[in-house]
Amino acid sequence: MEARILVLEGDGIGPEVVSQAVRVLEFLSATSGIDFKIDYALVGGSAIDATASPLPEETLKAACGADAILLGAVGGDKWDSLPTEKRPERGLLGLRSELGLFANLRPAVLYSALASASSLKPSRVEGLDILIVRELTGGIYFGEPRGIKEIDGCRTGFNTYIYNELEIDRIARVAFEAARKRNKHLCSVDKANVLEVTALWREVVTQTAADYPDVELSHMYVDNAAMQLVRFPRQFDVIVTGNMFGDILSDAAAMLTGSLGMLPSASLDISGKGMYEPVHGSAPDIAGQDVANPLATILSVAMMLRYTFGEKKVAHAVEEAVEQVLAAGMRTQDILPAENSASFQRVGTRAMGSAVIQALEKQIL
Ligand code: IPM
Ligand code: MG
Repeated sequence: MEARILVLEGDGIGPEVVSQAVRVLEFLSATSGIDFKIDYALVGGSAIDATASPLPEETLKAACGADAILLGAVGGDKWDSLPTEKRPERGLLGLRSELGLFANLRPAVLYSALASASSLKPSRVEGLDILIVRELTGGIYFGEPRGIKEIDGCRTGFNTYIYNELEIDRIARVAFEAARKRNKHLCSVDKANVLEVTALWREVVTQTAADYPDVELSHMYVDNAAMQLVRFPRQFDVIVTGNMFGDILSDAAAMLTGSLGMLPSASLDISGKGMYEPVHGSAPDIAGQDVANPLATILSVAMMLRYTFGEKKVAHAVEEAVEQVLAAGMRTQDILPAENSASFQRVGTRAMGSAVIQALEKQIL
């Protein structure tokens, strides 16, 4: 099988973590019978520097032609003073929207070796396995009108929080299907006590549930969901929510697993074509130092293998390899516990990538 992958390294630690994930792809190309053809293009701040646009036409064209996209991270202080529509983040949002990547899957899984790196007590997070399904091409991120203008002599900023029932039903179905393959619990998160748009959200999700009688649906207000995530996170199986709530809750869920550096994500269109990226940002403060954790990006490759290419076994092998290097005590600085650090092997970005490939070699060769 031939698979065309477009790699968008982006900014900050993006190029470093992506290059380790590309090594994994190259290893799999040589060993698993999938022939990955890898192309590169610019997005975000690096694209602004080279072309004055965060999402050059050429990049969008290449993205449309690829079978899957692997993205690092975008953004950095250097571009922080640019107006919203010219910022690096626009590149990412433009890709999501132009490619119709409405379904964002963010699994928060605790690797048992990392229980002590969680910000919660190990007893609270042991066995944690949550999937956040975040709507990605609508809601307040994209609603119009939006802007900052003078109203009655006073500068006023405004955005529009909007969802129609088709968008809600579409993402709800992705979440119900996912719950069906897991523990059959779906919690829909909204703010239906205050916002009409999410009152509609709750109504539509409840209607859609009629087609999934085997899945148990519950609803939760977002403030409560934030609290429950840090109080008793194991109560959740699949969470479905809108764009902004999903952005916020997925960062909180990430921390439960030990580090934002561990969380992969998939953003899928209606046909399953997808863009895969770590949930973490570009972390400009540690860029270029070979200390960033590449595991979230490597795990994003596993998601790509599973969701876009249907290669469950190879995907599982990559996840297993990650588990093994953690069990062997390898830690990048973000997952190195403060106490007892002598019993772990502190490694850099590249060494972590090499360790994963070695663990893969043992399984595959
Ligand atoms: C994410 C990020 C993005 C978002 C930013 C970089 C635009 O925080 O993917 O979670 O808000 O969606
Ligand atoms: Mg975010």
